Parts: sequence; C-alpha cells; structure tokens
Amino acid sequence: MIYTVCIIGAGSIAQEHLEALKNLEEVRAIAIADLESDKVQRASSLFHINGYTDYKEMIKQECPDITIITLPHFLHKEAAVFCAEQKSHILLEKPMALTVWECKEIIKATEKNGVTLMVGHTQHYFIENIVARKIIQSRELGELVQINESRHMHYFTPERPNWFLEKEKAGGGVMMNLGAHSVDKIQWMTDSYISTVRATLTYHSKYDVDASALVWAETSTNIPITISISGYKGARQHVTELIFKNGMVKVEVGKGVWIAKDDHYETYPLPEQPPVFQGQILDLVEAVKGKQELELDGEYGASIVQVLESIYQSDAHKQPIQVKNQ
Ligand SMILES: NC(=O)c1ccc[n+]([C@@H]2O[C@H](COP(=O)([O-])OP(=O)(O)OC[C@H]3O[C@@H](n4cnc5c(N)ncnc54)[C@H](O)[C@@H]3O)[C@@H](O)[C@H]2O)c1
Repeated sequence: MIYTVCIIGAGSIAQEHLEALKNLEEVRAIAIADLESDKVQRASSLFHINGYTDYKEMIKQECPDITIITLPHFLHKEAAVFCAEQKSHILLEKPMALTVWECKEIIKATEKNGVTLMVGHTQHYFIENIVARKIIQSRELGELVQINESRHMHYFTPERPNWFLEKEKAGGGVMMNLGAHSVDKIQWMTDSYISTVRATLTYHSKYDVDASALVWAETSTNIPITISISGYKGARQHVTELIFKNGMVKVEVGKGVWIAKDDHYETYPLPEQPPVFQGQILDLVEAVKGKQELELDGEYGASIVQVLESIYQSDAHKQPIQVKNQ
C-alpha cells in the first residue's frame, strides 16, 4: 500500500518534508495548502502535487492517509483536531501546541477518531543524538551525572517569519521554539522526564518573546541539567555535554560526537542513518500499520509543552517549579 500525504503550510520546514517524501516508496505527497498562493504554486509545481489555499478544502477533497501539519504554533490545535475529525493520521510539527490544554484537546480528538498522531521532535533522528543515547544506556562511561546543553543562534533576523516574534502566535521565543528541541533531547536521551525547573529569561526589546534562557533543571531520575539558549547576535553553536563518572561526551548535531576518557577528546565513529525527515515519516507509517509503538505520541509531545509552560512560570515567579503530572 502507498500512503498518501497532504501538507498544511508551505513554509520553510514543509520543503524538508517534501524532499524526504520524494525519495520514499511507501508514501506519496499528493497536495499542499497555504494561505499564500505563490508558495502553493511554487511547491506544487516543484513537487508535482495539487495546491490549495484552504487546507480544510484540501483535506476534504484529497482524503489523505496522513497529513503533515507545518503551521505556526497557534494553529496546531485547530488543524490537528480538524484532521483527526476527517480521519487522517497526523504528523504534527513541534512544539505540539501552545499549551498543555491544547495538547489534551488534540489527544482527545485523535483518540475519539482512531487516528495516529506523531509529534515531529526531530532530535530523535539525528545520528549524533542516537549514538549519545546509546553511550548513556551502555554505561560504558559509568553513571551519567550531569548534562549541559548550550545553544546559540541569531534568532531575530529579517528572514524570520513575523509570527515567530509574537507570543500569542508562537507561544514564546527561543525557549518555545529551540528549547522544545533541548527539552525533548534531554528527556529522550536520559529516558526520563524533566521534573523540576528554575529559569531566568530575557526578552527582546522590540518583540514580546524571550531572546535568551538559562534553565537549571532536574530529571525524574535526579540528573541535574543546564540549558543555555541565546538568540542574540553572535556565532551559531549547538553543543550538548554529557558528564559521566568515568568520562565526558560532547555532541554537536550535524557535526559529530567526541568522547574523552583522559584529558582529550577523540572522535566517536558514527554509523549511517536514514535522513532525519525520512526516518520520522517511516516511523509514523509503521505505527499506522500497527507494527510499532510511537515514541513521539501525543502524551510525549504534551510532556514537552508541560516543561516549557513550567519554565515560563518559573521565570515569571522567580522560583523553582515542580513540573506537573510526570
Ligand atoms: N523539526 C524541526 O526541526 C523544525 C524546524 C523548523 C520549524 N519547525 C516547526 O515547523 C512549524 C512551521 O515552521 P516554519 O519555519 O516552516 O514556519 P513558516 O512560517 O515558514 O511556515 C508556516 C506556513 O504556514 C502558512 N499558514 C499560516 N496560516 C495558515 C493557514 N491558516 N492555512 C494554511 N497555511 C497557513 C504560512 O503562510 C507559512 O507559509 C512550526 O511548528 C515550527 O516550530 C520544526
């Protein structure tokens, strides 16, 4: 069977999904929708798929097996609930929604309509993270005692779509958008939940979203974590440092993994891995077939939003927050 796929939102990440689908046999992109007709035209002629400016019309006409939702965060709930009601399985981009309440509404709709939901936390598909997780699980460096996650990326560039800079539409700034990846990566690598957070954020002078975040956190397995994210001007970096009792590991997504048992780092060999967006959709297909449980289901997606909500709360109240329900 070939699974048909529609995409809602023809922005930057939709291109990655379409490129991934182009090279797979089991799934086929059939249509895309966006409010902006020039984006629809470009994507539909480049990938030879139908185009719509109304996503509801697209889903009703095309009846896709799977819909990939790549919309601004404030539209995730509305679109996911609609797709569930139309009986389409869903790959929903991260973060799952603006609030835990919205996540629960999505979960309810998918359960009621018997459709599979995957939340697009792509960190699970980067070979560097997969290898780092295996090093933790193997205990080859002994017990993991600390993680330091440091991410820098000039966020407030002219190319960034405006909705990312409005709290109402994005839910937040660098923490909501980039921090969602950090929180996911840490929970997944350590096979635990973040259970306590204490955060200090700074806000951009022109927009009502956070521009930097420093978070101290602890996992449900008592591992202390720091997450440092900055969106101010400067050089891009994304480093995750894992500290064990018998050594250290440095992880840079897209660059490599280094391991230190003595006073220097050595490159860790990385096996081949399918491209990130291919791996992701193939896992969803296996779950739709009933052959595999989804790691990245709605409950998991909601757990990330729960941590993000707690981080904003901690900054607002200047105190540590116990993350609920985990
Ligand atoms: N997994 C990752 O690594 C990754 C990377 C980038 C973005 N994302 C996520 O993907 C999502 C989209 O981000 P993006 O960077 O592609 O944003 P974008 O602004 O480039 O794309 C969003 C698109 O949605 C369209 N849109 C808005 N309202 C619409 C509506 N009512 N109907 C149809 N189309 C509508 C916009 O015109 C725009 O083209 C976000 O959730 C973001 O966090 C994930």
